[in-house]
Amino acid sequence: MLKSRNLIQPEDFSIEEIDEILNLAEDIMKDPSAYSRVCEGKLMATLFYEPSTRTRLSFEAAMKRLGGEIIGFSEPNSSSVSKGESLGDTIRVVSGYVDLIVMRHPIAGAANEAIQYTTVPFINAGDGGNQHPTQTLTDLLTIKSLKGTLHNHTIGLCGDLKYGRTVHSLVKAMNRYEDNKFVFIAPEELKMPEYVKEGIKNYSYCETTHLDEALSNLDLLYMTRVQGERFSNKDEYERLKDTYILDKEKMKNAKEDMLVLHPLPRVNEISTDIDNDDRAVYFKQAVYGMYVRMALIIKLLGVDIKK
Ligand code: CP
Repeated sequence: MLKSRNLIQPEDFSIEEIDEILNLAEDIMKDPSAYSRVCEGKLMATLFYEPSTRTRLSFEAAMKRLGGEIIGFSEPNSSSVSKGESLGDTIRVVSGYVDLIVMRHPIAGAANEAIQYTTVPFINAGDGGNQHPTQTLTDLLTIKSLKGTLHNHTIGLCGDLKYGRTVHSLVKAMNRYEDNKFVFIAPEELKMPEYVKEGIKNYSYCETTHLDEALSNLDLLYMTRVQGERFSNKDEYERLKDTYILDKEKMKNAKEDMLVLHPLPRVNEISTDIDNDDRAVYFKQAVYGMYVRMALIIKLLGVDIKK
């Protein structure tokens, strides 16, 4: 039963519950108009303490496409946060106004703090370098829809595996399905944290600094941006930011059916010269994000979806 639950990290939901959300998202994609009024009378808050394009706008589009309404802020300085209001007080107050809260925050662990105060379902839309579970739902829907299964993939994750919260959440999620293997491709300074690797079933992962060597074995390649905003040393960011650039030449070594995913925004790590390659699915992935968030909103609100 997903009604009234919070989502802080992918493991908060069982595989069966995630399947329920993905199945509903696929159903919505087939017939969006059948869902256009199911959230009439419902109000959702989007509290974004950190910049966002896809997550905030896809949540807001999702709620509007379900017939619901939204309030919130995309710039904390336009709220009483600028006067020093605590996170707890903000969440307590907003809980009294809405049916559902979506929050992004720059501090890892802020979502866990927020759920101490909420009285309505709460969704973590990214907390610092920690977790981004709705990006993971987006990624799972993309993989399931385009590959047909969430099992038995060799998944390369490339770029900033230290600060990239999307890869932490995705590894935890894909690790729950059968026979997935991970190839972590990162410079020494940006390696996957131990706490993520420790949880991987049967130690079915390897690590390399070489994208070229890893590419030909992959079924999925998840590229990530080096997260400049999380570096205290800007010179180090400048040195590392262009370590990996996926381009047309490199794609010649990839399988014919390998998919390239990226949570976006992209900076330099994927050359625009592969945007029209059928294997480059990152813009499709952003669209899946809206549908999966529609399904998540319906489930957490427990709305009646008799069609
Ligand atoms: N993928 C993602 O979280 O994008 P935004 O930062 O634009 O929301």
